[in-house]
Amino acid sequence: MCGIIGYTGGSQALPVLIQGIRLLSYRGYDSAGVSIWRDGSLTVRKDQGRIEDLAPRWDPKELAGTAGIGHTRWATHGVPNIPNAHPQFDAARRVAVVHNGIIENDLALRAQLEADGVTFASDTDTEVFAYLFERAFDGDPVPAALELLKTCHGAFALAIQHVDLPDTLIAVRRGSPLLVGLGVRENLIASDMRPLVGRADAVIELGEDQVAIVTPDSVRVFGADGREVEVSTRPIDHSERDIGKDGYPHFMLKEIHEQPDRIYELLASRVDADRGVVRLDDIGISDERWRAFERVDLIACGTAFHACLYGAYVLEGVAGIPARALMAHEYGERAPRLDENVLVIAVSQSGETMDTKVALQIAVDGGAHTLGVLNVRESVIGRMADGVLDIHAGPEIAVASTKVYTQMLCALLLLALRGGQARGADGALLAELVPAFKKLPDDVRTVLARFDQAREAARDVRRASDMLFLGRGVDAGTALEGALKMKEISYIHAEGYPAGEMKHGPIALVSREVPTVAVATRGPTRGRMIGNVREVRARDGEIILVATDGDQDAPKLADLVLWVPDVHPLVAPVVNVVPLQLLAYETARLRGCDVDQPRNLAKTVTVQ
Ligand code: M6R
Repeated sequence: MCGIIGYTGGSQALPVLIQGIRLLSYRGYDSAGVSIWRDGSLTVRKDQGRIEDLAPRWDPKELAGTAGIGHTRWATHGVPNIPNAHPQFDAARRVAVVHNGIIENDLALRAQLEADGVTFASDTDTEVFAYLFERAFDGDPVPAALELLKTCHGAFALAIQHVDLPDTLIAVRRGSPLLVGLGVRENLIASDMRPLVGRADAVIELGEDQVAIVTPDSVRVFGADGREVEVSTRPIDHSERDIGKDGYPHFMLKEIHEQPDRIYELLASRVDADRGVVRLDDIGISDERWRAFERVDLIACGTAFHACLYGAYVLEGVAGIPARALMAHEYGERAPRLDENVLVIAVSQSGETMDTKVALQIAVDGGAHTLGVLNVRESVIGRMADGVLDIHAGPEIAVASTKVYTQMLCALLLLALRGGQARGADGALLAELVPAFKKLPDDVRTVLARFDQAREAARDVRRASDMLFLGRGVDAGTALEGALKMKEISYIHAEGYPAGEMKHGPIALVSREVPTVAVATRGPTRGRMIGNVREVRARDGEIILVATDGDQDAPKLADLVLWVPDVHPLVAPVVNVVPLQLLAYETARLRGCDVDQPRNLAKTVTVQ
């Protein structure tokens, strides 16, 4: 989704903005632009395409200056083209604006402005801000910014420059996150932490309906009533290392390889093996509350939804609470029955996904107890929920989620175990799982070391135009996630199904040209999975089987086997998805796709 960067200080702004745009580009974008103040005017450059191609076209002489704003745009209002790219400005080019989010009443505002003689140059809602700001501006940017908050409905984060304010940037926040980074005789504005790392020492998170006036030496923050407010700063703790590729050709591959360490850290910090308990004291659910829950609704989108399928399985099976996974955008369509005995868990990497946020709001309004299972604690969803369980995956840059998925699975299993503890479930399961947790990082490492088997499978499927992914029970979500990874980054049409569904329709697709990936590792569903595999074989379908080391039937049943170590069936989905991540990665690479930034996708989907 869109990204914002702003700089004011002693250095040339353009290189800082370009680097910021580069670091924001993981969010997905189709065009980018900058505005820089110089000699009493604002110079704007906007282009379509990737920043690597755009930056060389942006002339540092033409764009000289020490204060500017930049943007990556992911089209919502109007097609991706240069007029619709940001910054947007008024006809006299006295105001430049970059914007994340949506003005909900933009049609009415446009109509009013058109009636007053404005001719719009773009199809964007953002252009409205430029005109409204200029009309309200009398030399003081604060009332003009407050006027935007008064007039415009929706969720938006803005960075604004005015031609009369040479080294000043104006930041406005409603709904969408916006940060001010504090450096040495320079300050920045950004829509997330990444462009601030290495440049700013500390950060201010703007609150709801706040305005910041940012110069190289000062940051003043105002509330919606126009009064200056005291704000707290916090140091930046993301290391530089977290935003580099660490020698991997793609962020996705780096992130796949980070999984063992992240899993180890999460489990080690939460499982007290000596006392035989899971510690989740910080999520704000007492034993009494756990006992009172009558239902759990897990809400999320995409990969996070697939994690919820597993979450519902373990919350019901382990904690003994009826649980269901629902796509967040469907939640409001069904009028869920809610009260304080319903636990609603919003699962999200970014904590900013609009569909999940809207669904969570329904849960909040309905009086449910709410929990965010998130990778970004200080996010919109993090602030809305009664409590947060941090999955601690570290920043994920590749658009296709990998490490956050396995972290979500681990976090949801911990949650189920904790719920089970509180509700008096048999402690034997945790005792059984402790050794499984201990070796889980190494089990994932073992699969990573077997990249060659995924490479061989990728060479096999690279020319396919359709694929099927099958799994059952605890691995039904693994199949859906394997298919999503494949379609997202390789653009092969891939469908994931709980395998029992095959006979009810999808089996009609089986042919030699449609490879089927089946997850049939050791566990209660293996026998039935093998039955499904035989049905596909009987119809001349090609089989790529995810099988447990030592399974003697696997080579006879499959054209190719993706071997995984023998693990406890409840943690098997964490291991079983890894060969599917590698298969999708390698297939996309062989097909020459842009692995980290697939077409049409955004990392953070902040529109409904
Ligand atoms: O930030 P979130 O976890 O809420 O994002 C949800 C989905 O948009 C996300 O998982 C998406 O499906 C990814 N592209 C998956 O790789």
